[in-house]
Amino acid sequence: MAKRLDIKDLNVYYGKFHAVKDVTLSVPPHSITAFIGPSGCGKSTVLRTLNRMHEEIPGAYAVGSVLLDGEDIYAKGINPTAVRTTIGMVFQRPNPFPTMSIRDNVVAGLKLQGVRNKAQLAEVCERSLRGANLWEEVKDRLDKPGGGLSGGQQQRLCIARAIAVSPDVLLMDEPCSALDPISTLAIEDLMQELKKEYTIVIVTHNMQQAARVSDQTAFFNLEAVGQPGQLVEIADTETMFSNPTKKETEDYISGRFG
Ligand SMILES: Nc1ncnc2c1ncn2[C@@H]1O[C@H](COP(=O)(O)OP(=O)(O)OP(=O)(O)O)[C@@H](O)[C@H]1O
Ligand SMILES: [Mg+2]
Repeated sequence: MAKRLDIKDLNVYYGKFHAVKDVTLSVPPHSITAFIGPSGCGKSTVLRTLNRMHEEIPGAYAVGSVLLDGEDIYAKGINPTAVRTTIGMVFQRPNPFPTMSIRDNVVAGLKLQGVRNKAQLAEVCERSLRGANLWEEVKDRLDKPGGGLSGGQQQRLCIARAIAVSPDVLLMDEPCSALDPISTLAIEDLMQELKKEYTIVIVTHNMQQAARVSDQTAFFNLEAVGQPGQLVEIADTETMFSNPTKKETEDYISGRFG
């Protein structure tokens, strides 16, 4: 079930490079938070630290805390793989296992957890595909490879795969940037459904998308190349787009940037 995320004094480094500085923000449950800002300001970097995905990058580390309903995901003894199940991620390019069947793509995480019961796997498969609004399109070809779907279908397959393990939070890094406008709208509609059950953070370069889908928006920026990215301001999306506090935000949103 949806949980709140609290990020406190987060700093992220790639070796000696200080990529993101002093980020503090909260993501309420059952809501969509959009991260916007220019390329290189650290949106993906912050997102990856929310489920410890950055630990897969050699030399990357985070200082600060990320609390999921008050529990620090960085606390001693917490298994990063378990964190990534609870806090799932969908990437910019749809990345299903291309030769694996649609069915197995969806239940891959459950199988990794040791679930073998066929009826249970079939039930979760259908529920997740319905949840990702893909069931009707693929129900007659569940044994066909995931790589045989269109880009938009593959992205919904990846969303089904993420929700199959019953996460609390879904992180999405530019999930529509490789998709056509129709598939993009399908994913945006789907997000409105998903937020009833999950807490969602989305990175997007598309200002209209942020305005359309999110409840609150966080604007990140960096003072100069080589400097760490910082959170400039965060507000409910309507306020952010109609009446931002900082001139920097207004310039970015209105396209007068840089
Ligand atoms: N794996 C990495 N190793 C070293 N530096 C990295 C790595 N990933 C990102 N960086 C650096 O960290 C900074 C923030 O990058 P990040 O990818 O988080 O930006 P972003 O806001 O997501 O940009 P974009 O909008 O282009 O996706 C950049 O200076 C980038 O070069
Ligand atoms: Mg990025």
